[in-house]
Amino acid sequence: MKILIVDDHQENLRALEAVLESPDYHLIFATSGEEALKCLLKDDFALILLDVQMPVMDGFETARLIRSRKSNEATPIIFITAIYQSEENIKQGYSLGAIDYIFKPFHPVTLKLKVEAFVKLHLHRQQIKLQNDMLRRRAEELRKINANLECTTSELRKAEALARVFGETCTDALLTLDGAGQILNANPAATEKFGYGFEELLNQHVSRLLPGEKSSFLGQKNNQITSNCSQVLDAIAMRKDGTVFPAEIQVGVASIGEQQILVCSVRDITERKQLEKERKERYITLEKLVQERTCELFLANEKLKEEISERKKIGKRLMKTSQELNNILESITGAIYTLNQQWQFTFVNEEAEKYFRKRREELKGQVIWEIFPELSEYKPLLEKALNRKESINFEIKSIFQYNLPYEVYVYPFDEGLSILHNNISDRKMFEKEMARLDRLNLVGQMAAGIGHEIRNPMTTVRGFLQLLGEKEEFKQSKGYFELMIEELDRANSIITEFLSLAKNKAVDLKPMSLNGLIENMYPLIQADAMVSDKEIILELQDTDVLLLDKKEIRQLILNLSRNGLEAMPGSGKLTISTFNNGDEVVLAVGDEGNGIKPDDLEKIGTPFFTTKENGTGLGLATCYSIAARHNAAIQIDTSPSGTTISVRFKNPGQSESTVFS
Ligand SMILES: Nc1ncnc2c1ncn2[C@@H]1O[C@H](COP(=O)(O)OP(=O)(O)OP(=O)(O)O)[C@@H](O)[C@H]1O
Ligand SMILES: [Mg+2]
Repeated sequence: MKILIVDDHQENLRALEAVLESPDYHLIFATSGEEALKCLLKDDFALILLDVQMPVMDGFETARLIRSRKSNEATPIIFITAIYQSEENIKQGYSLGAIDYIFKPFHPVTLKLKVEAFVKLHLHRQQIKLQNDMLRRRAEELRKINANLECTTSELRKAEALARVFGETCTDALLTLDGAGQILNANPAATEKFGYGFEELLNQHVSRLLPGEKSSFLGQKNNQITSNCSQVLDAIAMRKDGTVFPAEIQVGVASIGEQQILVCSVRDITERKQLEKERKERYITLEKLVQERTCELFLANEKLKEEISERKKIGKRLMKTSQELNNILESITGAIYTLNQQWQFTFVNEEAEKYFRKRREELKGQVIWEIFPELSEYKPLLEKALNRKESINFEIKSIFQYNLPYEVYVYPFDEGLSILHNNISDRKMFEKEMARLDRLNLVGQMAAGIGHEIRNPMTTVRGFLQLLGEKEEFKQSKGYFELMIEELDRANSIITEFLSLAKNKAVDLKPMSLNGLIENMYPLIQADAMVSDKEIILELQDTDVLLLDKKEIRQLILNLSRNGLEAMPGSGKLTISTFNNGDEVVLAVGDEGNGIKPDDLEKIGTPFFTTKENGTGLGLATCYSIAARHNAAIQIDTSPSGTTISVRFKNPGQSESTVFS
C-alpha cells in the first residue's frame, strides 16, 4: 500500500517514517507541495499525510490542487499541523478535502491507528469500486441478453401467429403427433374433415384417422420416427362416422428438446382423384378416337396415294401427249403461234421464231400489234376470226421473209387464235412452172398441127430449089439457091424445135451417164468457144446413171452452153459440172456473164422471149420441155457476176428406194 508523506522538514519525515514503518506500507516522501504533485502523477496512493505549513505552496493549496485531479478526488488526506488552528482554518482544511487533522506532537499509536483505519477504508473503497465495475458490466450483459430475448420473443410471437394463422386458414388437415403417433394438436380443418371435436381428436392415435398408414411414416421399432418422413404418400383417410376419402399425406419432423414431433398434413384428394379418373377416361376415349381417325386417315391416305399414282399416270400420259403435240407443232414446217384475247403471244414454234426473226422468250407475252406495228393491216381480219369464231385464210407477202408469199390460216379457239403461216413460194413457183409448161405445150401442139402442113410444101419447095440450083442455066445464081435452101432449113429447124415443145412428144429413154454425153459433146462446144476466145471447163463428178433421151439431152446441153457463151461479151470461162445432190443428179452450166435482169427472169423460158438480135427465144423454152419430159426441174441462179442454170434430175434408183422404204 503506498502512502505519500509531505513535509518540508526532513526530521518530521524521519519521525513519521519511524512511526509508520511496516511491511504493509510503502512510504514515499515529498518535501514540498510541488514534489507531492509530481509523485501523484506517477503513483496511486492509499493515503496522503500533508503538512499544512510549508513554504511556497502550503498544505491547503497542495490539497486543492490534488483534489482538482479527477483520479485523486477521493484520496484521503490527513493534515499534520504543529500550530493551533482556528476553527476557521480547520473548516477550510475540511472544505479542501481533508479527512482528518493530526496535531503535533502526535501520539504515534494514534497516528498508526488512524493511518491503519484510512488504509483499510481505502482498501474497502477499492474493493467496492471493483465490485461496482463488475456489477456495471453484469448489468450491461444482462441488458444485452434482455434485448436479445425480447427480439427472439417478438420473432417467436410472429412465427407463432403466422403458424396459427396458417394452421387455422389451411384447408388441409394439420395434425401434430408425438413420436408414438398420438395426436397432440389439430387445426380446424382437421376437426372438420374427420368429423371429430377438437378435444376428441387430442390423444387419439393417428391410425384411427389413417388406418393402414401408421407403419408407412411411423417407425417400425417402438413406434419411433424414422426416415420415412417428409415423403408424400397417397392414403385412405377415415372420418369419425367410418366413411373414407382418398388423401395425400405429408409428414415433417421437428425436435422440441428431447422430444421428436411429427407434423402431418392430410389433403382431401377426392376431387383430384375424380378429375384424374375423368381425365383417364377422356384420354381413353380420345385415344380410341385418335385410333379411329388414324385408321380413317390411313385409308384416306391409301386412297389418296392411289389417286396420286393415277393422276401421275394421267399426268405422264398428258405430258407425253403434250410433248408429242409439241414435237408435232415444232416439227411442222409452217410457222405456228397462238395469240390470247389480248393479242399477246402465248405459244410460238421454232418455225415461227425463224419467221419473226425473234426468240420465243422475246415474243411470249408481247402484244403482236405493239411489237410488229407493220402487221396492223391484218388486225381487222384477225378480229373478225376472233369475234365470229370463224376460221379464215388469206395470202400475204411476208415483210419478214423478203416478201415471199405466205398463206395464213387463222383458227379461233376458246382462249384466242392459233395462226399458221405457210410458205407457198414453192407452190407459187410450181404453179408458174405449170403455166409455163402449159404454154409450151400449147405452142408445141400448135406447131404439131401446122408443122406437117408447112413442112410438106417446104419440102417440095426445097426439092425444086435443089433441083433447079444444080441446073446449068442457074449456075450464076447458085449462091442464092443455097441461101434459099439454108433459110428453108433454118425454118425447118425452128419448126422442129416448136414440135419439141409439145408435152406428149415421144421420148426414147435409155439408162446412160450424163458425163459420157457431155464428154462426147465437148469438142463441139469447145469449137464454139474457141471462135469467141472462151474457155470450157468440165467438172464432172461420178453421178448415178439416169434414164435419158440422148438426142434431147444433147439439145439441152447445147442450148444451155450456147446461152452461157453468148452471155459473156468478152473472154470468160464456161463451167459444165455434174454431181449427185441427195436423191438428185445435177447438171449445171455456169458462165461469167452479167447475169439476168430481174424483169427478164420472170419471162425467161417463154417461147419467143429473147434479148438477142438474132435469137429465136426458143432455146430455153425447149430446155424446159426437155426437162419436164425427163422429170427434171430447172433452177436459175443469177447475179451480176454470172449465171448458173442447173437441171436437177430425179435419180430413178433413189426414187424407187424411196418408194419401197
Ligand atoms: N446464160 C445466160 N445469161 C444471160 N442471159 C441468158 C442466159 N441464158 C438465156 N438468157 C436470156 O434468155 C433469153 C432467152 O434465151 P433463149 O435461149 O430462149 O433464146 P435466145 O438465146 O435469145 O435465142 P436462141 O436460143 O434461139 O438463139 C436470152 O435472149 C437471154 O436474154
Ligand atoms: Mg439461146
